[in-house]
Parts: sequence; C-alpha cells; structure tokens
Amino acid sequence: MLILGVESSCDETGLALYDTEQGLLSHALHSQIDMHAAYGGVVPELASRDHIRRALPLTRHVLETAGKSLQDIDGIAYTQGPGLSGALLVGTSIAESLAFSLNLPTIGVHHLEGHLLAPLLEPDPPEFPFVALLVSGGHTQLMRVSAIGDYELLGDTLDDAAGEAFDKTAKLLGLSYPGGPAVSKLAAQGQAGTYQLPRPMLNSGDLNFSFSGLKTAVLTLVNQQRDTLDDTARANIAYEFQEAVTEVLTKKCMDALRKTGMKQLIVSGGVGANARLRERLNEAARRRHYHVHYPRLEFCTDNGAMIAFAGAMRMQQKMQESDHSFTVRPRWD
Ligand code: KG4
Ligand code: ZN
Repeated sequence: MLILGVESSCDETGLALYDTEQGLLSHALHSQIDMHAAYGGVVPELASRDHIRRALPLTRHVLETAGKSLQDIDGIAYTQGPGLSGALLVGTSIAESLAFSLNLPTIGVHHLEGHLLAPLLEPDPPEFPFVALLVSGGHTQLMRVSAIGDYELLGDTLDDAAGEAFDKTAKLLGLSYPGGPAVSKLAAQGQAGTYQLPRPMLNSGDLNFSFSGLKTAVLTLVNQQRDTLDDTARANIAYEFQEAVTEVLTKKCMDALRKTGMKQLIVSGGVGANARLRERLNEAARRRHYHVHYPRLEFCTDNGAMIAFAGAMRMQQKMQESDHSFTVRPRWD
C-alpha cells in the first residue's frame, strides 16, 4: 500500500510517500521558520497562505523522487489536528480533494500519534510494548504504547510543555524563534555552578511534569541581573535551564520504565532533538540496561513522513469509507 502523507498543522509543510512493504520512499519539507522569525512566533494567517503555496509543488516533488505518479497512490493520510485551524484546513482540503478526484480512501491523523510513531521509521525499531516520551512545543507526555492505537497516558504536564519552556526562556534571553535550538546552542557556551534553578516535581512520586515555575525562576534571574546580563550570564542561565529540564525529563523516563517494568523507551517531538537530553537519557538507560530509540533529527520536529507512516499503520488496521467531506480538529485530546 502506498500512502501519501500531508502535514500542515503549524509552520512546516511536509509531504511524504510511505510504502507498507518498502518503507519510506520519499519525503520533503518546507519550513516557514525564516518567515515567522521576524514576528517572534508563528503568524497563523501567513502560515496558511504559505502552506497553500508549498503543498502541491512538494507533492509533485515526492512523487518524482520516488518515481511514482498520482495513480500509484493507494491512500492519503493528513494531519487533522491538533494545530492551527487555518493551517490544518490547507492540508486537509488538499488531501481530501486529491482523494476525491482519485477515488482514494483517506485518514485524518492525530499529529501527536505521528510524532509518537516517528521512531518506528528508523532501522531496528522497538517492538511493542514500550514507553514513549513525547516532548514538543505543546506537549510533555509519558505514555505506555501497547500497539498502534493502544496508548495509555502515564504522565502529563500540569502547565507548560517542555518545548514551550524552552521557547519562553529563549525570549527572556533575547534569543530568536524557535527557542529550543537557540537555547541549546547558547547553553553549550555556559558553565555550571553560577546559578541555581529548581527541578519542578522531580521527586513528586508520579509521572507528571510542571515547567511554568522554571520559566518564572528564569524570569526572576533575568530581572535580578538586568544591568549585568552579558553574554556570559545569558549562556550560564541557558546552561542551567537546560540542565534543569533534561534532569527532570530523564528522571521521569527512568521512573516510567521502572514502574511499568518495560525496557524500551522511545523519545519523540521537537525537544527530542536536544543533544543534552539524548546524552542524559542514553547514559541513564545504559546504566539500567534499557534501550532508547529516537527518530532521526529531522523527524523530531514536524514532518510528513510521520503522518504517512501513522496513516499507513491505521489504514492497515481499518479502511474507512469517506465521502470526502471534512473537518479539522484544532483541539484534539
Ligand atoms: O514537535 P515540534 O516541531 O512541534 C510541535 O510542538 O508539535 O516541536 C517544536 C518544539 C519547540 O518548542 C522547539 O523550541 C523545540 O521543539 N525544540 C527544541 C530543540 N529543537 C526543537 N527544544 C530543545 N532543544 C532542541 N534542540
Ligand atoms: Zn509537532
């Protein structure tokens, strides 16, 4: 089965072709980061307009790269939510229109299920069941993954997501959007021991997270240092912030593995690209004989490949009849 995947939930237009026998055949991405950077964040209207400009040329590109034509496609998967409604409508309407004209089945994929399954696109994927840490701009969740579609929430953030904390800290430190990579780059120049930041809920005994207090602690530091906030101070704050977030994430992942008795962890979502987080998780897992799986870096953040893959897995389970009318789900639990 050859599935076309379409991702347009936020500021990335992603297209991909996944074949259930041959694997990922091609994928293409256009990131709008440069366009939104001038505004310090994603401008929804601009995002929608850009998805419209990019989606069909990228579709043509993934078909050409894979040596396929529209007639070879067996189904179309698209991100139905959560995300920006206008942006979601672009991918959804293009996917459903193509499917209508080609008389193909469609499936609306939950964006987070796409992220969650992204590590399974890599060689030597984990077998079910496993624990998943989903750390993106909007989510910080630990899940027990027993099979495709069988997910149990083990822990969640009570306030800000880890990626959101990175983005807000970046703003406080005067760094550009998106904040995660910028904070991480600055942290590499920082040194330990200058400041102390809290590790929220580190020993709460459950698998939940909280990051808003950490952001407030950074704000307090920045305000205290207002007159002396030079590059060294900013780098040291970035360093301590990254240490605090990655320590909490690592500890809770190890707790989740211990509590569930599982040995395999997958990490996905934008913050999963963070090198310090990977270093800490790998080290903690190695000591306990656990195994950690990650998507390749480009599939940590939004992409079409994860949507094509999740859609293909769902379609293999159940093919749905569709009249190609559609809705988007900007908020979707
Ligand atoms: O998964 P994603 O692309 O979008 C969704 O939220 O669905 O994740 C984006 C988030 C942003 O908050 C971004 O700052 C963060 O992931 N991020 C990182 C890194 N790369 C992206 N955070 C920390 N370190 C990184 N290297
Ligand atoms: Zn995402």
